[in-house]
Amino acid sequence: METVVKRASSEAYDEAVSLLAAGHVVGFPTETVYGLGAVATSEAAVAKIFEAKGRPSDNPLIVHIGTIEEVDNYITDVPEIARLCMEAFWPGPLTLVMNVKNNSIAPNVTAGLSTVGLRMPDNDVALTLLRQLGQPVAAPSANRSGRPSPTEARHVYDDLTGRIPMILDGGATGIGVESTVLDVTTPTPTILRPGGVTKEMLEEIIGDVFQPTKLQAEAKETPKAPGMKYTHYAPNAPVVLIEPDAQKINNAIKQLQNDGKKVALLAMINLHQTLADYFFSFGDTKEQMAAQLYDALRACDNTDADVILAVTTDEKGVGAAIMNRLEKAAGNVYYGR
Ligand code: TXA
Ligand code: MG
Repeated sequence: METVVKRASSEAYDEAVSLLAAGHVVGFPTETVYGLGAVATSEAAVAKIFEAKGRPSDNPLIVHIGTIEEVDNYITDVPEIARLCMEAFWPGPLTLVMNVKNNSIAPNVTAGLSTVGLRMPDNDVALTLLRQLGQPVAAPSANRSGRPSPTEARHVYDDLTGRIPMILDGGATGIGVESTVLDVTTPTPTILRPGGVTKEMLEEIIGDVFQPTKLQAEAKETPKAPGMKYTHYAPNAPVVLIEPDAQKINNAIKQLQNDGKKVALLAMINLHQTLADYFFSFGDTKEQMAAQLYDALRACDNTDADVILAVTTDEKGVGAAIMNRLEKAAGNVYYGR
């Protein structure tokens, strides 16, 4: 199958809408990462997402909608706190896990759970597409399973060319890490995946929010965001994390090079070490780091680096989401630990 890439235009929207309506998948931008969409009420269409990505089907998908009014078509007992969240953060990078209405969403979207994750993306291309289609769109990130998520149309093309009919190109996504997943069916709302909407931002609107510690999140009893248990976001060479300390970083590079390894360094611009064989910048703010994280991880695959040394940040604000993704990409491996 040939994969066409089209800049957003009225012709491109028409084509994307026809493809989706006919049960095909389409890559499209959101404010977080590119999604691979299919009509969420069609089991056959949704099956094509899993096939194209090579994604295990016990991992539920997020459903994207174009207006808040649609929520009641798919959800029963919308909690008051969910309404408050929608008002405060939609459109935006917040997915709300709520009780799904019987038979309103294809069963392979929810992986058999009684809940579904819904969000309204804050991206003009995504919203135009959703509103013109007039149907809910199930969409995981548009990468091959296990690879870093795509933040540009080119990334989607690199991973999925020949496997999907179309990519709607809306330029680089703004936020760069996936949406926050908040379960509002628990007595205290629970963050299942940290993202652009932070715990601090949520608590200002709805009071106490539970953000599990890493140990709690890893405890196998409650795989509530089943996606979190797979290898994720990883480039080909192993990723090793290191604290933002110039001396430490330099010593690590020297030692790795002594062992005959080529080192790609991923760090904020102020921690650039000329000793590294390759350097990819995380920018100079945490927001830039989030926006550039996946592109930097992907860039390493175009080098002959043997190891990727990625410099960490603290977990305040969007740092929680960044560190969640970095630790997954590194399989929790820190230099010298
Ligand atoms: O920013 C995003 O959320 C992107 C863009 C495309 O919207 N989408 C995305 O989807 O990251 P995906 O499928 O890669 O991640 C969905 C996450 C997974 O961790 C999954 O386990 C969790 O949401 N999830 C989805 N439905 C759930 C449910 N009913 N209960 C618990 N977790 C759920
Ligand atoms: Mg993903």
